[in-house]
Amino acid sequence: MTNAERIVCSDTGALAERAAGWLVATVAEMAVPVVRLALSGGSTPEALYRRLAEAPHRDRMPWDRLAVYWGDERGVAPDDAASNYRMATEALLDHVAVGAVHRIEGERTDAAARYEALLREATADGGPPLHVVLLGMGADGHTASLFPDTPDLDTEAFVVETVSPAPPARRISLTLNAINAASVVGVVVSGASKSERLAAVWAERREGRATSPMSRVEPAGRLVWLMDEEAAAKLS
Ligand code: 6PG
Repeated sequence: MTNAERIVCSDTGALAERAAGWLVATVAEMAVPVVRLALSGGSTPEALYRRLAEAPHRDRMPWDRLAVYWGDERGVAPDDAASNYRMATEALLDHVAVGAVHRIEGERTDAAARYEALLREATADGGPPLHVVLLGMGADGHTASLFPDTPDLDTEAFVVETVSPAPPARRISLTLNAINAASVVGVVVSGASKSERLAAVWAERREGRATSPMSRVEPAGRLVWLMDEEAAAKLS
């Protein structure tokens, strides 16, 4: 089990602020010319993106060294209200100048295959497909768009198409293989609604009985959990 690091903040605002500073520091210390960063969907990550677009974080992040990817996407067009690409673009990418943006083409039926090829191509430099992966966690223990009933969580692929119990049903997601190859994974979790599941995930990991997708995130490098007190309330 990775020696997971735990950062607990007083509330969602403090979490967004702390997570923004953490991400800037994490990217800045990556010893590679271009940092491949995968963004997450969800309201908790969105709050973090908005802080990143503001001073002081905006002025400290080495944006030109960032190649931005996504950990998952809904099977929708980029201008759809449900698009993770649209959310991150409105909250952050429209306000900063990143080196490259590689969206998952959710509107295409071959989106998973195309993103797989993109990530395979990225590893030509000898690095992992992604250096830093940001994740959220659902109350059911899903992460990215890997759900408890997603088949073949052990696939060697980097990208799969999955079915979400919540609409939009069609999803494209990084696999555990891609996530766990990362140098750093940051999981941002907020709210009382996640406290039971977070405690269960930590217990699964501690006792070596990881079954939910979230509990099977075991990166080659660092795993950092960033949460607010409400989400952390049931952790021992
Ligand atoms: C998505 C996300 C998903 C999200 C979690 C947590 O596409 O919705 O990738 O995995 O991160 O559901 O979302 P909240 O932070 O909004 O609870």
